Amino acid sequence: MTLTPVITEHWDAPDLYTIEGYRRFGGYRALESALKQDPDAIITTIKDSGLRGRGGAGFPTGLKWSFVPQNDGKQHYLVVNADESEPGACKDIPIMMANPHALVEGVIISSFAIRANHAFIYIRGEVPNALRKVANAVAEARRAGYLGTNVLGSGFDIDIVVHAGAGAYICGEETALLDSLEGFRGQPRLKPPFPAVAGLYASPTVINNVETICNIPYIIDRGLDWFRQFGTEKSPGFKVWAVSGHVNNPGIFEAPLGITMRQLLEYAGGVRGGGNVKFWLPGGSSVPLLTAEHLDLPLTYEEMAAAGTMLGTGTPMIFDDTVSVVKAVTRWLEFYKHESCGKCTPCREGTYWITGMLETFEHGHGRESDLELLVSACNQIAGRSFCALGDAAATPYPAALKYFRDEFVAATHTPVDDTFDPVASYIHAGAAAR
Ligand SMILES: Cc1cc2nc3c(=O)[nH]c(=O)nc-3n(C[C@H](O)[C@H](O)[C@H](O)COP(=O)(O)O)c2cc1C
Ligand code: SF4
Repeated sequence: MTLTPVITEHWDAPDLYTIEGYRRFGGYRALESALKQDPDAIITTIKDSGLRGRGGAGFPTGLKWSFVPQNDGKQHYLVVNADESEPGACKDIPIMMANPHALVEGVIISSFAIRANHAFIYIRGEVPNALRKVANAVAEARRAGYLGTNVLGSGFDIDIVVHAGAGAYICGEETALLDSLEGFRGQPRLKPPFPAVAGLYASPTVINNVETICNIPYIIDRGLDWFRQFGTEKSPGFKVWAVSGHVNNPGIFEAPLGITMRQLLEYAGGVRGGGNVKFWLPGGSSVPLLTAEHLDLPLTYEEMAAAGTMLGTGTPMIFDDTVSVVKAVTRWLEFYKHESCGKCTPCREGTYWITGMLETFEHGHGRESDLELLVSACNQIAGRSFCALGDAAATPYPAALKYFRDEFVAATHTPVDDTFDPVASYIHAGAAAR
């Protein structure tokens, strides 16, 4: 399958990030055509395109937009989730650095469709370069008359606020993001009500990922048939794949949904040193890992689900033979434990206990009975947590055990000390840390 650069097509043009550079390649043409349409027609177009959210869950974008009650007399908001903090995910930040006007144009069209006059772009604060590029693009768009009152004489008013987060993974969870944006501590909200009904400042709000919004101008400009020629019936379109890990040429490759990991691996120059894939993850650390036997599966939402994992953010991480799966899983759990916001017990306590037990395996002190105890601990978190961070934390270990049980067994009881009690030792270590 060949690459199909769309969002990334002109990334080698040194001035693409400026409004002149973007317009030279047809930028803001879609906005002019969108403003002449009925907002509902745009929602229908996006629905018919089958575009699915690129933030991880793959929710149909047009359907999400259609949940916003229309003609309710309320202020509506569009919020772009640009918090990209998932281990392994690195696509939104490069998009914002290279092609920020695609995001700005997408925001204006999307806001017009859902009848929002205010939009927010919530950017991960640790990436000032992306922040500057997007803030500059917003300022340029305002000077050009694409933002402000009566945009291009259409009667539509819109402005964009670019907001910097303060470095918490949980603020990428959409309702925690809204709390953070409102000035509160970023913790998830109870759903329902869903943001489409009561989101930012209790008003109807659509929250979409950067890449999702960047698709909008291209769909409006080039049409449904063009978009649906890529991908599959259930996963139409193309994707900005960000391949990282033990490959010779890690980077961004834009290609249709349905490409296989083996094909992406070829574009990424193969495994470093001519080695072998030991395990890989299709989209960030929050999705169950796969092995070399899955390299020929089409990377679509439906095929990944059938294989027991998820497409997630579509940012595959490749691990070669040199990696200990026990260590990798332990590192991920340390991340989730650190990033757990503490609001609910299963995640706050569960990530603490799982990480402690995994660390005993990492040091060769694991007990064989703990292999199943760990599965049970994961099951107490998955589906019982307040938000999806808990589910994500419960994901890596069961998948790793399924494919690499031997490696965990080999990490049991190796030391001479048979009386070693991982739980007591962990309580002791925790008390010492406090
Ligand atoms: C802990 C956590 C972190 C998340 N981080 C992000 C993120 O950085 N960017 C993002 O777009 N979605 C993130 N999500 C998913 C969002 O909650 C939400 O589903 C997404 O922004 C919706 O956009 P989409 O429909 O365009 O995919 C995260 C979810 C969780 C549970
Ligand atoms: S699952 Fe974790 S991150 Fe989510 S609300 Fe509970 S404690 Fe917070």
